[in-house]
Amino acid sequence: MQTAAERVIRAAGAAISARGRFDWALSGGSTPAALYRVLASRGYVERIDWSRVHFYWSDERCVPPEHADSNFRMAREALLDAISPPASHVHRLAGELPPATAAEQYELELAQAFAVAPGSGFPAFDLILLGMGADGHTASLFPGTPALEERRRWIVANDVASLGATRLTFTLPLINAARAALFLVAGADKAERLEQVLGRRARPPLPAELVRPLGDDADWLVDTAAGARLGPPSEERS
Ligand code: 6PG
Repeated sequence: MQTAAERVIRAAGAAISARGRFDWALSGGSTPAALYRVLASRGYVERIDWSRVHFYWSDERCVPPEHADSNFRMAREALLDAISPPASHVHRLAGELPPATAAEQYELELAQAFAVAPGSGFPAFDLILLGMGADGHTASLFPGTPALEERRRWIVANDVASLGATRLTFTLPLINAARAALFLVAGADKAERLEQVLGRRARPPLPAELVRPLGDDADWLVDTAAGARLGPPSEERS
């Protein structure tokens, strides 16, 4: 997690020097939670000018913000409570609203935060943090779901039959407009899928494989268990 924390610190420093702010989209999942706790700890927390960070969520479950499954709640408990950012910098997805309404509302919030009108392009996040599920999903873009086909919208409500639930998620064109995307992947249950995704061998391609920020490869930080079927460790793996 230290490697991931250093990546975030570096990205934040570069964005703040270049543009005066760091627009960072967070992810749900247990792996990012560990990163947030590292960033909130002594020795790390002092190294980011948190007053210049804007927080967003790349996906959310359709639950209220205090619910145990809320990605916002997870990030609040692991990181935000420790740094108390200005409320206007915390852009959460309203999981408590009807999903289509929450998606539209969030697009308007992004339009304002990035000064880009919906339909006229895509906001460019400085960094989108992502996880990958054992089925190859990322954010709440699950294999075979309608959101994968979206080319115009920024945020959609995605019906995920395998979960029997609707999720709010960034779309692929929004993710791919980011300056950088960083995957954090941990656990032996991901090993087989990770090998497929990085080898780009799945047909149709798995959602995680379709993440190409600005047409480039995403960065992957992978633990030993998840990387067990890959070649020898390289700098990209932690
Ligand atoms: C979520 C996510 C999801 C997650 C992966 C990996 O809300 O669950 O955003 O895409 O990142 O499922 O989760 P783990 O890190 O817990 O394996």
